[in-house]
Amino acid sequence: MAQNDKNLCGEVVERIWKLSERSIKESKRFAISLSGGTTPKGIYSLMASESYRHKFQWKFIHLFWGDERYVPFSDEKSNYRMVYDSLLAKVDIPKSNIHAISTDAEDPSSSAAFYEQDLISYFKLSRGELPRFDLILLGLGIDGHLASLFPQITTAAEKMSSQLVMATLGGEPNLPRVTLTLPVINNAKNLMWIVTGASKAEIIRKVLGSNSKNKNLLPKHVLLKDGQTFWFLDWDAAYLLFSSANHS
Ligand code: 6PG
Repeated sequence: MAQNDKNLCGEVVERIWKLSERSIKESKRFAISLSGGTTPKGIYSLMASESYRHKFQWKFIHLFWGDERYVPFSDEKSNYRMVYDSLLAKVDIPKSNIHAISTDAEDPSSSAAFYEQDLISYFKLSRGELPRFDLILLGLGIDGHLASLFPQITTAAEKMSSQLVMATLGGEPNLPRVTLTLPVINNAKNLMWIVTGASKAEIIRKVLGSNSKNKNLLPKHVLLKDGQTFWFLDWDAAYLLFSSANHS
């Protein structure tokens, strides 16, 4: 847990860099799925800063998105645009290493199918095989959504989903979206939750609190089959875990 967002970004980026170096050493690649929203902006900016821009071996790093809002890349609500502005515009990464979720297909389902093909091709998947990201970054919505998987979509459907990528609708802003599915997320080697701000304190208490019984919460279904999960929280998001209410 970090005292504030700045410290948290430093811890997260240092950990991402170390994971990337180990992965590149072992397999000459680092496939990372980026989270959207506003929380990770500081992380991507630090990755593009003088302190890290030349440390990351970009030619071995492949960037994917965990989800995308179905809007043009020029739209300020676009997760691609957020990553472009904070990272892509500032680092020397081969264009072929950038695996964006297209939003100019016929419809979100077509976009999901294209993205799924990109995953199959990059990870050289055989039929029924899941991609195994070296790292997946996840934010957390105040309602417990993650990527663009929303609580009101039956988790059973997601768990059983044979799809790697699906079209959904929801969130804030309430938009058509394209998202990785739960089985793909659960197949990651490493997963980092990055949650900051007082608005997330209650959902963090529900998900991580010692007496949180609500098994229907989507984040409770994020259980890596064979991997390491990291929670990066700032004090504002975590403080209820230490309050007496959490132990009542
Ligand atoms: C999105 C995100 C979403 C996000 C959470 C937290 O496209 O909206 O992928 O899952 O991570 O909603 O968003 P904030 O970081 O803006 O709080």
